[in-house]
Amino acid sequence: MTPGLTRFATVVADVAMCPVWGCRSTHVWRSRGLRLATVKRIFLGVTGASGAAYAAAALHALTAAGCEVGLCVSRAGAHVINHELLLAGRDAPKDPDGVVREFVARSATAPGQVTILGRHDLTAPFASGSSLAPAALICPCSGSTLATIAHGTARNLIHRCADVMLKERRTLVLMTRETPLSLIQIENMATVTRAGAIVMPASPGFYNAPTDVRQLVDFMVGKALDHLGVRHALLARWGEDGMTISGEPATGAA
Ligand SMILES: Cc1cc2nc3c(=O)[nH]c(=O)nc-3n(C[C@H](O)[C@H](O)[C@H](O)COP(=O)(O)O)c2cc1C
Repeated sequence: MTPGLTRFATVVADVAMCPVWGCRSTHVWRSRGLRLATVKRIFLGVTGASGAAYAAAALHALTAAGCEVGLCVSRAGAHVINHELLLAGRDAPKDPDGVVREFVARSATAPGQVTILGRHDLTAPFASGSSLAPAALICPCSGSTLATIAHGTARNLIHRCADVMLKERRTLVLMTRETPLSLIQIENMATVTRAGAIVMPASPGFYNAPTDVRQLVDFMVGKALDHLGVRHALLARWGEDGMTISGEPATGAA
């Protein structure tokens, strides 16, 4: 096994809980983690915050990386996709499920790797801690979904999956989008962070001299995929690959 694959397998095995012994030690579970590592199952929740382009780029990158994606789009998420990506006007779509299908057809590199999940389908594997999904990304994440996760009052599959990730101590990334923030939203961010989530406001860096919006979107999605443990080439890394601007020291970026 290559060093990179060994490391990746170990990461996945460490994230996932052993179903037999209920522990994080690797023993037999390491080989199971390796199987997971070859086809990684990721939950992607899309909610009704502005920034459907982030969701499209995330679905594209996850499928390009060979992930199996369980996709759940809230009603408001379908509304925003309809408005911002399909450019179908400001009104709520009459057929939100059709909007989601169109979203997958346009964004996934391999639509067969995407399972569209019902908003209230609590029979989906992601609704249970017994499922082997190691990570979930909610992108974009509305203030409303953030609040629901912070207070554990799950009302749909996206909230429930987030609950599961937190209780199982797995990876949950919330790409929030709102500005400015109320104290309520800041406190909700603090609450979910204390519970183990990674709050990642959609605020791309400009230190790699982006020349178009796509690069800004890819920057955010690349940061999210780093936390999910999914390989990508979406962003230039500070001090690597000749990314630093000529003459500037390769220090100080975050
Ligand atoms: C076009 C549009 C853009 C929106 N942008 C945001 C946003 O950036 N952030 C946010 O928190 N809510 C935003 N909202 C409001 C949310 O969609 C609304 O609070 C909704 O109830 C969220 O539901 P959900 O979390 O189940 O998707 C937007 C709504 C629309 C129609």
